[in-house]
Amino acid sequence: MKDTADHGDTGQTENLDPLLLRQRDRVTGNEAPRIRTTKPRLSVTIDADTSQPIPAGGAGAPPDNSGGGGGGGGNFHKRIKPNDFGKSLKEGKAAVRRNLGIVMVLTCATNILILAIPVYLFQISDRVLTSRSTDTLIMLTIVIAGAVVMQAIFDAIRRFILMRTAVEVAAKLGAPILSAAAAASLNGTGREYQTLGDLQQLRGFLVSGTLISFLDVPFAPLFILAIFLVHPDLGMIVVVTSLLLFVIAFINQKATEKPFAQANLAQSKANVHLDSMSRNSQIINALAMIPEAVTLWGKDTAASLTAQVRAQDRNIVSAAFSRAIRLLTQVGMLGWGAFLAIQGEITGGMVIAASIIAGRALAPIEGAIEGWNGFVVSRGAYGRIVALLQGSRLQFEKLRLPRPEGRLDVERLLYVPAGTKQVVLNGLSFHLNPGETLAVIGNSGAGKTTLGKMLVGSILPTSGNVRLDLMDLRNWDPRQFGENIGYLPQDVQLFPGSIKDNIGRMRRDATDAEIFDAAKLADVHEMISTLPQGYETMVAADGAPLSGGQKQRIALARAFYGNPRLVVLDEPNSNLDTAGDRALARAVEHARQNRITVVVITQKPALLELVDKVMLLTDGSIALFGARDAVMQRIREDAQNRQQPPKPIGE
Ligand SMILES: Nc1ncnc2c1ncn2[C@@H]1O[C@H](COP(=O)(O)OP(=O)(O)OP(=O)(O)O)[C@@H](O)[C@H]1O
Ligand SMILES: [Mg+2]
Repeated sequence: MKDTADHGDTGQTENLDPLLLRQRDRVTGNEAPRIRTTKPRLSVTIDADTSQPIPAGGAGAPPDNSGGGGGGGGNFHKRIKPNDFGKSLKEGKAAVRRNLGIVMVLTCATNILILAIPVYLFQISDRVLTSRSTDTLIMLTIVIAGAVVMQAIFDAIRRFILMRTAVEVAAKLGAPILSAAAAASLNGTGREYQTLGDLQQLRGFLVSGTLISFLDVPFAPLFILAIFLVHPDLGMIVVVTSLLLFVIAFINQKATEKPFAQANLAQSKANVHLDSMSRNSQIINALAMIPEAVTLWGKDTAASLTAQVRAQDRNIVSAAFSRAIRLLTQVGMLGWGAFLAIQGEITGGMVIAASIIAGRALAPIEGAIEGWNGFVVSRGAYGRIVALLQGSRLQFEKLRLPRPEGRLDVERLLYVPAGTKQVVLNGLSFHLNPGETLAVIGNSGAGKTTLGKMLVGSILPTSGNVRLDLMDLRNWDPRQFGENIGYLPQDVQLFPGSIKDNIGRMRRDATDAEIFDAAKLADVHEMISTLPQGYETMVAADGAPLSGGQKQRIALARAFYGNPRLVVLDEPNSNLDTAGDRALARAVEHARQNRITVVVITQKPALLELVDKVMLLTDGSIALFGARDAVMQRIREDAQNRQQPPKPIGE
């Protein structure tokens, strides 16, 4: 985790110039500087070109910390080892196995000690009552009492251990599952995050009575053997009962499987509605859509409840059958035992003891049967967890590449969204040199946003490649790639946290200098300074208290955080005022001076003045691509041609 980069930086430690800090705090008007004492890391936040007006502006001298780190760009990307999910899974399983071993030993002891009371009965009726020896009775009572207490203690200990095992499993697998789910949701169905619920299901099973019953079941034959020793007839009665119970369990399982599955499916649909309600609470209230939203949720919830009632009804019937059979067995055993006692084959004490042992033998079987559905569900949950962890792309180590320069190659990019036949991007190919700026223009629905997402790897092409510095995006180490790009999506979402945290991409190792540099680069420092709490302003999940334009500008700074080599801005000026527009223009200019490759998707002509190249997308294909002036000229000509219908339109 602590590997330092292999690039040629000198690895300075804290790179904040104290003077800069003081100055900055004066500017933002905030509390004492929090120098984050991070490990030796980043030497360069902005390429150390002190001729640029970027780092400090009016707020002091630029941090002279670059020590010649220059174009290499420092080790912003600290290597994060690939998550070895297989290993996490193995560790989780090992924890369960180890603890279950101990639990098994305790279970063994508990089950043997359970025999204490029948043995006691046996001894009282057959020895004490016949010999009338009080001493024997006292001795026997002490021993048996000790055994019963021990049994209770062992039983408690195994439950303690199981509970801790469950917690250990949840702790060991929680983070890997969430990481894997987040990675898998890129191409997935959005259901991946529910695997965390599966983990909860698994944890619940580990502390459930069902597991205890499962553990106890193997000892049932021991008890049945004991009954056989008392009298084979009684043994046979118990064996037949056990078999009957299994049959009922099997039927029950088959009868409830479907309704339980339906109930779960409907429940997860209802949860999706709930989730979207919580995200769109403002719209729902403003448009008075509460009844409709509740109805949508209610329909699925009702379906889930109906299916559940159906399943539970069947469950209750089966449970009633098994309970009746168990009680009838007791009756049968006592009755037949009494008959055998009359015949003189066994004693009365033996009859009662056998009946108690039978109860012990059948209890775990019944428990296991009742909890069978829980077991099936947990097994399914476990299967999904294993599949998610083992299929995760995060667990493969990628070669660590040198810091990219920002060369972008797009080759025959085709995108047909999964499950549709609509070609959204149709064989796009183009090339950008490091530091070039490209504006992508085109009508609504032309595929601009889709292209932008593809350039940053947030969706994967159906075919074709996007290459950063010749390497396909899919082959970059995801963390390293993420650190070298910036992205401003069309619908900006900020994370709940301070502005500072948001600009620093929620990284704990983000230094104040880096955050400040990103804010300067995106030219939002002034805007942030006008906020009452400056960089410490807390942003809610819905972006409050920031306005749409402010959110967009903070997200712009987030895109520029860490001095990326490729920045994709999707309509960055859709919410901006003139001041914001000017700031954006300066940001693009800064980026160009820092040799950051920029792709900006826009509908506004103002930005076009700043770029080197322009691409016109129509219906997912490149209609025009080239140097700005040439393309603009062509567009103007085409527009003129269209105004004079008789002339045929070129191309
Ligand atoms: N996952 C998807 N499934 C089906 N169609 C999709 C998907 N993603 C995008 N599309 C379609 O691709 C087309 C292009 O969408 P895109 O969001 O890229 O347009 P755009 O050029 O960014 O438009 P705008 O200017 O309005 O933002 C649209 O017609 C859209 O319906
Ligand atoms: Mg768009």
